[in-house]
Amino acid sequence: MIVIQAKDYDEMSLKAYEAMKIVLTEKPEAVLGLATGSTPIGLYKCMIADYKAGAVSYKNTTSINLDEYVGLPVTHPESYRSFMNRNLFDHIDIKPENTHVPDGLAEDLQKAADEYTAFAAAHPIDVQILGIGANGHIGFNEPGTPFDSHTHVVTLKEGTRRDNARFFDNDISLVPTHAVTLGMQDIMNAKAVILLASGAGKADAVAKMIKGPVSTDCPASILQTHPNVLVVTDEAAGYYLN
Ligand code: F6R
Repeated sequence: MIVIQAKDYDEMSLKAYEAMKIVLTEKPEAVLGLATGSTPIGLYKCMIADYKAGAVSYKNTTSINLDEYVGLPVTHPESYRSFMNRNLFDHIDIKPENTHVPDGLAEDLQKAADEYTAFAAAHPIDVQILGIGANGHIGFNEPGTPFDSHTHVVTLKEGTRRDNARFFDNDISLVPTHAVTLGMQDIMNAKAVILLASGAGKADAVAKMIKGPVSTDCPASILQTHPNVLVVTDEAAGYYLN
């Protein structure tokens, strides 16, 4: 595990992009594992700016997103499909049909989840972008999720819903109670992982991920056992590392 402590959000985003660009340059048909939330937006801005500058192309890439809320129409502005279109896909040359987000509206959610696992297995992720929850979750794999899990439906923890209420008019009752997420094993199957963490609220989770025991109590701690992980924090999120 390599850890870079950037001074602020913009430097964190740029450092993560520099690492990602190596993969994009070496493998134009790379499979990108993507995340939503506040943390990767700066990275996505770097990707868009460099694409607009003509330095990279996404026309041969495939993307596989980590998660999606259950029951939220894809047209809802806070669905993760909408998020990805708005913050990345609409601004680069990735083919819409090559972008994949779990189906949170399927009649049989677990069947759709199993198909998503099979798709990810058939299209191994070259670089997985991750944020981290204040409780150490990655994707929506909340504490206690088995390390050998695949795509599944999760009941979101109250704290996670509270953290995400900022996207839903600060009204926790509007935050979906369930989500579909790639499992821990699917994430660990990625060839490389870039995890970004920003802000003091992540400092404790970052310290547990890097220095704590490998335990399902802090799902991200499993990354200690992955052979190719880059963690990029800003100063606040890396506070306990020194
Ligand atoms: C998002 C995801 C989550 C977030 C995490 C941090 O697709 O899988 O694990 O990365 O909840 O969210 P932010 O970046 O909003 O603090």
